[in-house]
Amino acid sequence: MVILLAGAGGQLGRDLQPALRGAQLHPFDHRQLDIADARAVNAAVDRVHPDWIINAAAFNDVDGAEKAPDQAFAVNAAGAGNLADAAARVGAAIVHISTDYVFDGAKGAPYTEDDRPNPLSAYARTKYEGEQRVLASGAAACVLRTAWLYGWQGKNFVKAILAAAERGGPLRVVADQVGSPTAARDLSEAIAALIERGGVRGLFHVVNSGACSRFEFAKAIVGGRVEVLPITTAEAGRVAPRPKYSALSSMRWPAAGLPALSSWQVALDRFLGEKQAPEH
Ligand SMILES: NC(=O)c1ccc[n+]([C@@H]2O[C@H](COP(=O)([O-])OP(=O)(O)OC[C@H]3O[C@@H](n4cnc5c(N)ncnc54)[C@H](OP(=O)(O)O)[C@@H]3O)[C@@H](O)[C@H]2O)c1
Repeated sequence: MVILLAGAGGQLGRDLQPALRGAQLHPFDHRQLDIADARAVNAAVDRVHPDWIINAAAFNDVDGAEKAPDQAFAVNAAGAGNLADAAARVGAAIVHISTDYVFDGAKGAPYTEDDRPNPLSAYARTKYEGEQRVLASGAAACVLRTAWLYGWQGKNFVKAILAAAERGGPLRVVADQVGSPTAARDLSEAIAALIERGGVRGLFHVVNSGACSRFEFAKAIVGGRVEVLPITTAEAGRVAPRPKYSALSSMRWPAAGLPALSSWQVALDRFLGEKQAPEH
């Protein structure tokens, strides 16, 4: 099994590499492959001859995308399309990662794959366009929407809360955003299971089950060691609008015979119990 992994230097990209150790993996970080460059993408694909392409690359700065929507589009929409078009050209399958932020939060209950997206931010609009380009490419494509990713590699909410707790409380965390925290390692193992089983086509939600607010998540992360105080999204003063409710529920993943992920609490306990893996 030959796999081309784009975005290999990111949080998910780095957790994917141990999960895919059974495959012949060709990891490309941003420096080695710019997915916004269609010629570079085609050249890499022609060199590697992949059976699978995994796109873990993204312009992931939600606030930054408001100021640089064209840059976000070049990666999240055009770049995703470049990889999918190359996959279609050589008969490879593609796994592409998308986001809970494609939804506007108005539903107030977990979103299934059948719910209609309505992205609120530039980041979310470019990610939604990326999904559509991948699904329309003609490649055997699997788009996985995930949420609130965290791992020991890279920057994320869990590591930020742990670092802030080290500096001392109280911590002020938004209580009016609810979502599905997901361990990058669990998503990586889910992707490995998907590939092992030969793949499935279409759009899937893949998250640790259950939902919580960022405030509840922060309290679970610090486990009572420091005080956590609820604030509103308006008080947090971020640039990009975020959905107030973006928990995902996966109907199609288990229906396709793929293993359901654990609850977010079990995943967080496992994560916090691990010795921090060295950054590489
Ligand atoms: N993090 C979350 O909470 C979250 C939530 C929902 C969905 N997702 C999705 O999950 C996927 C993985 O996210 P992540 O958390 O692993 O993000 P990440 O840590 O920011 O990793 C993204 C990687 O993509 C690279 N990249 C940026 N532009 C590129 C380009 N033009 N060509 C090639 N590589 C490029 C980045 O490199 P540089 O840093 O060098 O630019 C970075 O290494 C993304 O599709 C993201 O949208 C993430």
